[in-house]
Amino acid sequence: MCGIVGYTGDESAAPIILEGLSKLEYRGYDSAGMAVFNDKIQKIEIVKEKGRLQGLIEKTNAGNAMMGCCGIGHTRWATHGIPSQKNAHPHFSDDKMVVAVHNGIIENFHELKEYLQNKGYEFYSETDTETVTKLIDYYYKKTEHNPLESLSKALIRVRGSYALGIMFSDRPGVIYAARKDSPLIVGKNDGGKFIASDVPAILSRTRNVYYIDNMEMVELSGEEIKFYNIDGEEITKEQVTINWDAQSAEKGGYEHFMMKEIHEQPKVVKDTLQAFLKDGQIDLKDVGLNEEMMKSLKKLYIIACGSAYHVGVTAKYVIEDLTDVMVEVDLASEFRYRDPKIPEDSLVVIISQSGETADSLAALRMVKEKEINTLGIVNVVGSSIAREADYTMYTIAGPEIAVATTKAYSAQLICIYLLAIYMGRVKGSLEEKVCQDMLQEMMTLPDKIEKILTDKDRIQWFANKFASAKDMFFIGRGLDYAICLEGSLKMKEISYVHSEAYAAGELKHGTISLIEDGTLVVGLMTQTSLGEKTLSNMVEVKSRGAYLMGVTEYGNYNIENTVNFVVYVPKTDAHFTSSLAIIPLQLLGYYISVARGVDVDKPRNLAKSVTVE
Ligand code: AGP
Ligand code: GLU
Repeated sequence: MCGIVGYTGDESAAPIILEGLSKLEYRGYDSAGMAVFNDKIQKIEIVKEKGRLQGLIEKTNAGNAMMGCCGIGHTRWATHGIPSQKNAHPHFSDDKMVVAVHNGIIENFHELKEYLQNKGYEFYSETDTETVTKLIDYYYKKTEHNPLESLSKALIRVRGSYALGIMFSDRPGVIYAARKDSPLIVGKNDGGKFIASDVPAILSRTRNVYYIDNMEMVELSGEEIKFYNIDGEEITKEQVTINWDAQSAEKGGYEHFMMKEIHEQPKVVKDTLQAFLKDGQIDLKDVGLNEEMMKSLKKLYIIACGSAYHVGVTAKYVIEDLTDVMVEVDLASEFRYRDPKIPEDSLVVIISQSGETADSLAALRMVKEKEINTLGIVNVVGSSIAREADYTMYTIAGPEIAVATTKAYSAQLICIYLLAIYMGRVKGSLEEKVCQDMLQEMMTLPDKIEKILTDKDRIQWFANKFASAKDMFFIGRGLDYAICLEGSLKMKEISYVHSEAYAAGELKHGTISLIEDGTLVVGLMTQTSLGEKTLSNMVEVKSRGAYLMGVTEYGNYNIENTVNFVVYVPKTDAHFTSSLAIIPLQLLGYYISVARGVDVDKPRNLAKSVTVE
């Protein structure tokens, strides 16, 4: 997974490319590079640098050292070959006739590399990208320099995923692009044309974009943009206007994108809720789901990765409590390699913020082959999962830049609450009045989240006491356990503190042996019926030296007799407590990360969307 930006037009390309890449660095950042056609010397110049984008910016004097109005750039998240200057993109044929940047994995690159070696090609890097670049070069020469035919011939031989930006040194001012499974968009304004992996890269320059579909190619030249299918036949694409404001892709005055996005949650919850309400009723017509389908639905599968999977765990508790629908939740990376026996009248829900997660996309495709209905709950408009699912419910979270998800997670929760209530009403397990009461309660969630955020200074004070913690446990029962899963992942991924989420009742079956003096145990006790039992588990670990933090609803003041530090959240419908209790845990992880000097928005080893297996 990486960031790709290309530009051809009236302006100097390198500064534009660097500006765009800086907005995409959250997508992957172990090396970066650019290739620009230098009109003066009539040659493509290539500069690459290991490490963060800043290194490339310095090396090229913010792009001013590279002359030319046509170029491509890349920030890499390595899959084949260690992060190094040699393995950084752009990659090129020996005579620099073909230069390319790539996002994705060429699964059959070994056999293609061997084929090319037998044709006399040599290789300087360990990457799969160099192979596909030289395969294009091979066909460019075989087709007597026909760009589209050479792309077509090369890409038909490729297995795997790619978003490619390509330049040919004998075609100045022209950029070619192609995609399969990895994201790529095209943009244009009066002065030029763009390719990019994602909207934020070009939002400050244009809102007019085209989404490229799988096995399509694009030619961007000074005159126009042309789209082709893989057979080289010209096709037309619809221009889409992006209505995100540029500000929403910036930090908005916060120190980190993550803190900004934590604070955007009230608005995101409200926007997502409003998106599916019409005259006070849940309206899923735009999603495409209909009441008939819901009536016959017996089983729901929820497939996702990471935090999106945790939303699925919450969804199981909520949907099974509100409807007669059985819910099975599974990790996409496991589900896709099983042969699940899915009854035909089931619905498979793929939850994904980016809509590009390789395992989730593969799971979606596997289910579609079984001709089972699929619903995508996705944040990025036009993303692969959004376009390939039979039905799509868009979260209205806007661009989420921090690698650790917060607002998209909260928006996904709203979608599953709405789905649960909709199904309950359609299937008759929920009275209309109960549905209305639940919708009214959901409308109070934004203000309740705001209220929790006013408590952040206390949480920061507490976080600083545990900034040097080595281990942490999050324990809870039922929905509280689902919240623990997400709280623990937040802690691990942004503060690098090892933590585990544990079903509170399970702790005594072995893991309690890890509790030592001062071990922080965070107990989630928002579920009235189960909170008391979790409190007993907290007493057990306290007697073994643990330091206790509790998260519970206002009114449960008795826990202060046991717990060392308590964060209260406003009361709400028991089904919706994930939306509130997760906020203190997001803040806890954030403040410990800041105290430990971690790059909160771009934690080590991570990328915003894992578009590789
Ligand atoms: C969450 O904070 C992580 N960044 C990660 O677990 C993420 O939720 C997971 O990779 C799934 O991403 P997706 O929602 O874009 O599919
Ligand atoms: N597979 C390519 C490489 O390892 C591209 C990785 C990416 O998407 O950044 O260089």
